[in-house]
Amino acid sequence: MGRTIDARLYKTDKPSFDVYFRNYERLFGPLAGKAVHLLELGISQGGSLELWRDYFRKGTIAGIDVAAVRLDDPTGRIHVYQGLQQDTALLDRVRRETAPHGFDIIIDDCSHIGEFTALSFWHLFDAHLKPGGLYVIEDWGAGYMRGTPDGKAYVPPRRVASFRSRLRPSVEALITRPSVVRRPALKRVIHAVMNRLVRMKFRSHTHGLVGFVKQLVDEAGMEDITHPAWGTPPARASKFKYIQISHGQVFIAKAEAAGGPALPHPPTRPRGSVRTPAPSRRTLPARGVRKKRP
Ligand SMILES: C[S@@+](CC[C@H](N)C(=O)[O-])C[C@H]1O[C@@H](n2cnc3c(N)ncnc32)[C@H](O)[C@@H]1O
Repeated sequence: MGRTIDARLYKTDKPSFDVYFRNYERLFGPLAGKAVHLLELGISQGGSLELWRDYFRKGTIAGIDVAAVRLDDPTGRIHVYQGLQQDTALLDRVRRETAPHGFDIIIDDCSHIGEFTALSFWHLFDAHLKPGGLYVIEDWGAGYMRGTPDGKAYVPPRRVASFRSRLRPSVEALITRPSVVRRPALKRVIHAVMNRLVRMKFRSHTHGLVGFVKQLVDEAGMEDITHPAWGTPPARASKFKYIQISHGQVFIAKAEAAGGPALPHPPTRPRGSVRTPAPSRRTLPARGVRKKRP
């Protein structure tokens, strides 16, 4: 396992968030003794690059910042580049010059603007992060902050008591009535009504970096999105092995076969939902074709 990180020894803006380093120790620990290639976007005074250099004693550490950053690094293992995180040609060059086989770890502690973060994420994740590698997005809560260019203060989504939600308790009360349980046809009708009543959207805050992080959840669900039975083909597996979201940090582990064919799995639906049998694809009208009234 890796060592403890004492961020107070470095000029980085991370120490005030102690939980960051406990997560880093847990996830980076198994790699600490290896010759990792790490890239950090946004390096301020360069203290975090020195910290990663000392933590990964055999590591090669690259950093990019729009500002000119001068570092005195006697080991020669730190490489600093000046430029924008959204400049994909620069990202390609940094990979070519510092990590020809790809990066093991990429940390984005840069603009905290959703659009730029998304641009560098998809470019680096697809082209320059090794399979099994880790991508970290720091300070994603910037999307909740009024002062940031694309953030906005959080306002709880309005919960409107709709006709459906007012009707639901009465239908729920019917489901377990012996007179209903005894009659399969009636039971099916009640369940069908119930399934219509629970069609809800869970609206949420989608501004800036917060909105981008929520888009990443869709990529994690790609096997369901593209499932041949209920999704939109072509079927494919998620590019993510997992995504872990906590206060201020998102960790995305790249799947070994990112975006490859979907894993074979039975065409089951999630257990535990009250439901009537779904109509088969054959009985559904083709998209865009209206069913004629009898
Ligand atoms: C939060 S600081 C980085 C702190 C550093 N990682 C640390 O731990 O000490 C963010 C840095 O990103 C840089 N930055 C902001 N927008 C940028 C962009 N679009 N491209 C490159 N660098 C950018 C800023 O100059 C600043 O130094």
